[in-house]
This record gives sequence, structure tokens and C-alpha cells, in this order.
Amino acid sequence: MARYLGKETTRVDGIAKVTGKAKYTAEFQIPHVAYGFIVLSTVAKGRITTIDTREAEQAAGVLRVFTHLNAGRLGKAPAAGAPPQWSWPLQSDRVFFSGQPIALVVAETYEQARYAARLVKASYQAESHVTDLEAVLDKAQPAPQNTPARGDPSRALQSAAIKVEAEYHIPINHHNPIEPHAAIAFWEGDQVTIFDKTQNVYGVQNHLAEGLGVSAEKIRVISPFVGGAFGSSLKPNYYPSLTAMAARELKRPVKVVFTRAQMFTGHGYRPQTIQKVTLGADRSGKLQAMLQQAFHNTSSFEPFSDNTTGFLKQVYACPNLDMPLKVAATDLSTPTWMRAPGAVSGMFALESAMDELAYALKIDPLQLRLINYAEVDPVSGKPFSSKALRECYRLGAEKFGWKNRNPEPRSMRDGKLLVGWGMASSVWGAMQMPASARVTFRADGTASVESATSDIGPGTYTVMTMIAAEFLGLQLDQVKFELGDTRQPQAPAQGGSWTTSSVGSAVRGAALTITAKLLELASRDAVSPLRGLAADEVEMLDGRLRAKNDSSRAADIADVMRRTGTNEITEVYNSTPSPERENYASLAHGAQFVEVKIDPDLGTIRVTRVIEITACGKILNPLASHSQEIGGVVWGIGMALEEATEVDHRSGRFMNANLQHYHVPVNADIHSIETIFVEEDDLIVNPLGVKGMGELGMVGIPAAIANAVYHATGKRIRHLPITPEKLL
Ligand code: MOS
Repeated sequence: MARYLGKETTRVDGIAKVTGKAKYTAEFQIPHVAYGFIVLSTVAKGRITTIDTREAEQAAGVLRVFTHLNAGRLGKAPAAGAPPQWSWPLQSDRVFFSGQPIALVVAETYEQARYAARLVKASYQAESHVTDLEAVLDKAQPAPQNTPARGDPSRALQSAAIKVEAEYHIPINHHNPIEPHAAIAFWEGDQVTIFDKTQNVYGVQNHLAEGLGVSAEKIRVISPFVGGAFGSSLKPNYYPSLTAMAARELKRPVKVVFTRAQMFTGHGYRPQTIQKVTLGADRSGKLQAMLQQAFHNTSSFEPFSDNTTGFLKQVYACPNLDMPLKVAATDLSTPTWMRAPGAVSGMFALESAMDELAYALKIDPLQLRLINYAEVDPVSGKPFSSKALRECYRLGAEKFGWKNRNPEPRSMRDGKLLVGWGMASSVWGAMQMPASARVTFRADGTASVESATSDIGPGTYTVMTMIAAEFLGLQLDQVKFELGDTRQPQAPAQGGSWTTSSVGSAVRGAALTITAKLLELASRDAVSPLRGLAADEVEMLDGRLRAKNDSSRAADIADVMRRTGTNEITEVYNSTPSPERENYASLAHGAQFVEVKIDPDLGTIRVTRVIEITACGKILNPLASHSQEIGGVVWGIGMALEEATEVDHRSGRFMNANLQHYHVPVNADIHSIETIFVEEDDLIVNPLGVKGMGELGMVGIPAAIANAVYHATGKRIRHLPITPEKLL
């Protein structure tokens, strides 16, 4: 019986966070630090012809104005004759997107740097740009993740009794974490230390090694707390190298912090997506063919793709399927992963189309999903290591009262408000990456645990502390878990919802290795009651090492350590996915049921009720996990109804780079949300039995809302966000 795993546990870092003791990147105090402020391009494409920094340089407190004319080199010089590229800041006169950094003003204070930044004058030889995906669709290139078609979808479509065909549009969305991007860099001789807001300290270290021409071991990256990131800090951003370059040139620590407006530049966004979906079914509702052609934009200098349709191929049992993704270059910055990348965009289109098909067939939308339920992975033919989606559908329908739904659009009312009920499925991966953790166990019954992962908010400090305490048999407050430093053992980026499975497995492995070491020490004593037991037959609990099946066979751990002259035991454990996983497909699933109430005169939509049931393996900390899923639902509401980065295609600029005009849900937008877990026993996926869940919670929500809006109004809105003007 687990002591901690599976039990609601408040955050171990909660008090530090609410009292301000938890330090975020920009809050570290470094003596004699200078402040950098970034100047951004105002054209989308072209060359900088002149950049006049004289006035800025003479402004009070200014130490240096870095431009492409005087910045230190970053990265390798491009090969002669190579096409122009943008990978490192301030390395050429070329402009590849509006909002590209063209100067860094460094001054004694932040205010002086920010003021002087306004005095930098650039003129450009602008070239014509394209920032609208629709204008370059014909130039789109296949994404590298594409897989061959299953069966013959075109032929199967011709003979399908019922067909639906529709096109779905999603605008650019921007991550808006509360904490802005920031870095502080300082050099000691040829070594550099950098505080950076990042989801991946080792990734930043490698990136800086390449950029600065310094070997990785001379670069220390520190990031103990991250105030939200959602993917915006997965890839190394350009500002750490810029900050480190400025600190090297000035021989002084430099700090760079983004403004909210700058948070819309230069480090990614959810791409603009266009998807053409054709579904064919027989009259019983069995899918005969699925064709989903997805397009999204990338930049002119990086071929990013978010694998929009990747997981979709595994959702329904359908013999004929093709879901190619193509990406087209635009003169914008490169998009990146953003919470539930690909899946939430792809499932908006697919699950909307499934609803359209349900209406064409006159079959209940939930029933249609059950008719096409994938009992085995339709891509590989392998069994699922676990899949409780059927139970999610059943429980969600029951809790929501789905059987009382009148399928007729505009048939349900609450006074003058139109009521709509919609549902959708969700899917995400159950991934595991190689990860390492170090555990030091001391004779006084305390332990230090370290791994260079990140905690962008899901509760990683807490769950790793729980895992270590569980397997070391300690109290939570006897364990100290630390993360976010390249001096710690390597961990993958915190992304993909794989942190608990990856890093948690490493922490567990290290703790079990310590148990084995202690058994070995105890067994040196000829009269030890534990002699003859194998490592997996013993466990640690409250300072004792004892046989799992006979707690009277036990040894006092402190005693064993003292007698053998052992003050502490340190173990580093490298965990990797088990080969057994290869024989199975592993995914996390969910079902969401949504009620909307719509004012027929004003077109205003309220999401009055959401029930989301997810099956994502074992839930280690229900408190944090419900919080994750509720957050996913809230974001799904934002994506469905509010969020859009508006591009002025004439200037190639993002027009609403602020939280006044980039709308996200506020408290008044959020009503009843209930999240429920159907736990799965799955020890194939990893030894802890956990699956990805942080991204899953968002995946089906935009489609479920769009489907509820159709049910309420009879209007099928295929362009997100669903704003009142689209309904009227
Ligand atoms: Mo998440 S988009 O993998 O940070």
C-alpha cells in the first residue's frame, strides 16, 4: 500500500512560491549587473541599410549598443555563397521577420536601456513578404513525420454511402506565460553561468556551446523555477546567446528581460493551420475512409512542423486513411510547440468532422465513436498496453446526462438562451525519454534527490519528492528534490507530458538501487535477519530495511550504516524505456462533454458545464493532476472562443501583441468544470504506470465546444475562435 503515491499532496514548493522565496530567472541578484533591452525590426523582410546608434549611445547610462555591425560572433560564419539564414541574433543585416532583434542596448539600469532603445534608428531596404498561409499553400512541403497511407482512402471514399467534407481553420495562437522570457549571464574567465527561463537546461547548454564556441562543460545553465512556459521555452530561444555575448563583450554581467509585447516575437507560437477533412462511412456508421490534409505555416529559415495529424491516425478503427501534413514557409518567426501541439489542432478538425458525420448519418455522436472504437492500434496493429477510453465515454455520458440530449439543433433552451451539448474524444502520447537522477541517502534519514529537469507548473518538485519518499521509506520533509541546473544529472526537456514517466522512473530506480546497497551492507553481518533475501524482496520504511512479506525481519538502517562506516550512499540511475514497450502501443485518452448557453440576439457563448474524463495511467498526485486537467479545459475554452494572434499581412506584423487584445479566459468566462480520472493499471508503459496527462486535458475541448455550438444554434463554425460575429 503506497504511502504517498496516489494521495493528494500539496505542493512542496507552494510556500516558497506564495511568499516570494522561489526565485524566477530575472529575480537573481548578481552584483554589478547591466541591463539589456532588445530593439526589434519593423519590417518583415529585407536588409538593414543603416542603423544609427549615436543618439542611443549618448543617452544616460548606456554602456554599449550592439548591432550586426559590432556584435560578437555567434555560431559559425555562414559558408561562402550559402543562402542567407537566421539562426543567431545580430549576425547580419538580413531581416527575416517583423520583430526580429536588430539591436541590444545595454545600460546601467533597465529604464535607461529601455529609453535608449527608442533612440536607435534603423532604415531598411524592404522586400516583399508573405505572411498568410493561404497565399503559399501551393508551395507547402511534406512534413518529415508523414507516414504512408493506410489502405486506399480515395477509392474507399468513392464507394462510401455517406460522406462529409469540410475545411477547418485555426489562427496563430501565442503562449502567454505569466513570467516573461529572461536571462542573466556572467563570465568568470572562460566559463559562463547563465540563468535562463527554460524547460531544458541541457538544451540551452548545447545551444550556447555552439553559439559561443565554448565547450559545454564551461557553460552552467540554471533555471530552478519557471512561471509557465507551455512550450515557449522548449527550444533554446535567441536571447540567452545574445545575453551571454553581451556579457562577454562588456566583461560584465548582463540581464535581459522581455516585455509582454516582446513575448509575441521571435520564439514561436501555435502555427496557423488549415485542414481539409473528408470522412466516408457506411450507413451503419462504420468509417470506410478518412482523409485529413493538414497545412500549417513555418518560417522561411526553419522547417518546423507540429505533427498535427500524428496521433489522429491511432484514434479510430478505419482501414483506409491518409493524413498528410504539409508546411509552408512564411515571412514570420518560426512556430513552435504549444501545449498539446498538433493534437489539439488536428483533433479540432477531426472531432468536428466526426460530429458532422454523426448528423449526416443521424447517429448519436457518442455512438458513432463507439462504432469506430479502435480495439488495437490501427497504425501498428499492436495491442494497447492499456486503453480505458470506453469507460471514459460511459462515465462521462452518465455524469453529464447525455441520454437526455435531443439531437435536433436549436431544440434545447434555457429561457431565451439556446442550449447546446457537444462531445469529443482526446488523445495524447504516453511517452518516456531517457533520464537520470542522483539520490544521496544519509545515515540521519534524510535524502537529496537531483535531476536537471524543470517544473513549469505541473508539480514536478512535489511528485519527485513523493516518489523518492515512497521508495526510500522517508517522510516528505526528509527529502529535498532539486532541479534546473546543468550540474545535475541529465534529464530531457520538460515537454511532451513525459516528465513524470521519464524522470520519475529514474528517481525510483536510484532509490531502489540504494535499497539494494543497504541490503548488501546489512547482509555482511552474519546474523542479519535479512540474509538470503533478494533486493526486490526488501523495502525501506521509516529508517528500517525490512522484508516485504515479513516485517519482523528488519534491520535499522542507521545502525547498518554506522557499523559499516557509511555516512551516506549516492546513486546515479539512468532510466530508459523498457524494450517490452515495443510490443504495445501506448496512448492516453479522454472524452469531454460540454454544455454551452448562447444568447441568440448577441451571439455570446458561455461554456456552462464541462465534464472531462481522462484515462492516463496511474494518477500519482490527484491534487496536481486535477489542476492540470482543469487548466487544460480552461485553455481549450480560450482556444475555442477567444484566442487569436491577428496578423496584418500588409506589414507582416502581429497586431495584438498584448493581453488587452489577445484574449484569454478570465474568471467570468469559466463556470462548472469537473475532471475525472479512470485509472489504468499499466506497468508496461513504465514502472510507475503513468502516462502523459498535462497536454491531454486540452485536446478535445475546442471540438466539443464547436459541436455544442452547432447543437445550440445549427451553425457549424469551422474557423476558430468562435466569436459572436461568426454566429450572428
Ligand atoms: Mo509542451 S508544448 O511539450 O511544453
